[in-house]
Amino acid sequence: MKSLKHLTVIVIILLGGWACQEREHHDTNSEVEDKVAQLLSEMTLDEKIGQMSQVDPGVFGGLENLKKVVRNGQLGSVLNLIGAKEVNELQRVAIEESRLGIPLIIGRDVIHGYRTIFPIPLGMAASWNEDLVRESAAIAAKEAASMGINWTFAPMIDVSRDPRWGRIAESAGEDPLLNSMVARAMVQGYQGDDLSDPLTIAACAKHFVGYGAAEGGRDYNTTVISDLQLHNVYLPPFKEAVKAGAATVMTAFNEINGIPASGHQRNIREILKDDYGFDGFVVSDWASIQEMIPHGFARDLKHAGELGLAAGVDMEMSSRSYNDHLKELLDEGKVKMEWIDDAVARILRIKFRMGLFDNPYVDESLADSLLVHPQHLEIARKLAEESVVMLKNENNVLPLKKGTKVALIGPLADQPYEQLGTWIFDGDENDSQTVLEAFNEFNGSENVSFAEGLEYSRDKSTNGFAQVEKAIAQSDVVVAVVGEEAILSGEAKSLAELDFVGAQAELLELAASKGKPVVMVVMSGRPAGLYKTQHLASSILYAWHPGTMAGPALANLIFGETAPVGKLPVTFPKGEGQVPVYYAHKMSGRPADASTWTHIDDIPVQAVQHSLGNTNHTLDYGFTPLYPFGFGLSYTSFEYSDLRLSSEAVSEGENLMVTATISNTGDVEGTEIVQLYTRDLVASYTRPVRELKNYQRVTLAPGESKEVSFELEARQLGFYHPDGKFVVEPGQFHVWVAPNAAEGLQAEFELK
Ligand code: BGC
Repeated sequence: MKSLKHLTVIVIILLGGWACQEREHHDTNSEVEDKVAQLLSEMTLDEKIGQMSQVDPGVFGGLENLKKVVRNGQLGSVLNLIGAKEVNELQRVAIEESRLGIPLIIGRDVIHGYRTIFPIPLGMAASWNEDLVRESAAIAAKEAASMGINWTFAPMIDVSRDPRWGRIAESAGEDPLLNSMVARAMVQGYQGDDLSDPLTIAACAKHFVGYGAAEGGRDYNTTVISDLQLHNVYLPPFKEAVKAGAATVMTAFNEINGIPASGHQRNIREILKDDYGFDGFVVSDWASIQEMIPHGFARDLKHAGELGLAAGVDMEMSSRSYNDHLKELLDEGKVKMEWIDDAVARILRIKFRMGLFDNPYVDESLADSLLVHPQHLEIARKLAEESVVMLKNENNVLPLKKGTKVALIGPLADQPYEQLGTWIFDGDENDSQTVLEAFNEFNGSENVSFAEGLEYSRDKSTNGFAQVEKAIAQSDVVVAVVGEEAILSGEAKSLAELDFVGAQAELLELAASKGKPVVMVVMSGRPAGLYKTQHLASSILYAWHPGTMAGPALANLIFGETAPVGKLPVTFPKGEGQVPVYYAHKMSGRPADASTWTHIDDIPVQAVQHSLGNTNHTLDYGFTPLYPFGFGLSYTSFEYSDLRLSSEAVSEGENLMVTATISNTGDVEGTEIVQLYTRDLVASYTRPVRELKNYQRVTLAPGESKEVSFELEARQLGFYHPDGKFVVEPGQFHVWVAPNAAEGLQAEFELK
């Protein structure tokens, strides 16, 4: 196995050893502010505008060109400069050769790991494990920092309710609370307790805001978001990221109700900076200021720059409207000097907090001992295991006994690159451990008959199927690793259809036709369309793109070394025609139930139209999704019983204890993620049918029961009015303690 290589060649570094590199003195906030003010007072307008610009060396004509502008003090940041040596070389120019010696901030998309690749963020969210998510970000920070990167463009916390949208892979899915969890965990992980520690990096909460609501799931598309949704669904994860101390925020590509996100004064200046008190800096997305021209919001680049700065974007990524036009705009009185000073102060503030003035260079010897360190791989394996959601396990086909004769098939069973998923600029497929490798090791290669059947997920040729038949003939169980290649999700990788691409459905049909149990493992950047194929498998493990350690994680689960714990962070639709479908929908005036839906095939010919008993459903799919949010099975079963509340009524300022008993009713140990939902029955603005308020993990031995209690604060029952005002309205509430968003024990209480 490739990990053994690392185990033998990598010297174990004691974490304590790194601590000595930290700066001994930490500037207080007021010291930082004094330094910012002092430096600002010494800067020319050109130098100020320089700080507000970020470029990519590749696009800017290489390192030598960059050095010129850096020497002139006309650049604040670069993105995508690779290598500790190269970063130091450019940083040296900034420090030693520019007039004021202001260090550069070096940005890069470190999204789910640097070299050690963790599951895609959607997979991380499926673990519901804040500690592991935080740890993965801390590891990503260390690895990235060792290469000279001191700023990542993560976490991406766009609430995403459309599996067609390729960037759902980068998000924590459909729920504001789960996105807030990932926001907090990742900001804390990347930034640690001390942003000036050389092994932490600045985080960037993105994309502000509403990017996930792209119409039709087509990337960059228009969004129409009511103020009610904006405040209650899309903004909360950003508020949480700010609370957790995110150093930076990135504005989005999309327009919201007619105003591009990168020109949105109310959202950036008023909500983010004033209301949330965000004192870091705002960076545009790649050329998103310039893109206000095609949006039809800016006349030309100069106008775009004016709008971007007026809105409160402090640093412009890639496009050059600030660099080329701010001076002129200032002369013409179209932008204010105080806006420029505020933007520069924000950027300098973060640079001071990062300790870059005292410690601008990276130790070039660090990377060798740090990248893909065995401890990092261990966390990657754990997180990959916990991110897997078991959707189905008929007849307890899983776990398999070691030594079972297995036919391992499918185009993703041995694809070290594809298992890494989207946004892995610095991941290396040579570090990957595939399912085939892990199966050979865990189960003995003599018990594994491998025939991928298809060379890649989109492969339509069935030439490899004969080999698959042979492999199945020699085996007792089929494990089919299907899904989508890494390049089919992520930015600009939207799909109109969710069904398996290529001839994968045919491959599954072939496997199922042999009368042996089929275990389907899905590696995908989104909820795949399983409606037409799921009946072909007895068991389904939904693995997202699990990263470097996909193989060992899946082998551990499949052979029962550990049991699945993951729960869906997003609803699985029956088909793309059901999208958008999410658990926290509104009730409507005609809520659907089983008694009011007649399947399309059961409607009599020439039935007469009537308007009685009609409800909110579709004739073909009905009113339930394929799998609800929060759903996931384990190798044991859990029973929920005895829901009780500390009181039938609670007043503002008080807490309600909600308790239920969870029992392991199966034969093996298991961990359940117990979820707390509420519904506000009557409010001044209608509220969702359920909202996730909290969750807890409970591990139970066979036969064991435990009480799980949640403390529900009255404040958690409030919501935002469209004007952004938070209100807690008295009235009746439902509460559930539940295994997922569609089930659970329910009680009612009053908020006085
Ligand atoms: C993406 C951002 C990313 C940026 C820099 C853009 O295309 O939307 O998420 O951080 O590029 O690579």
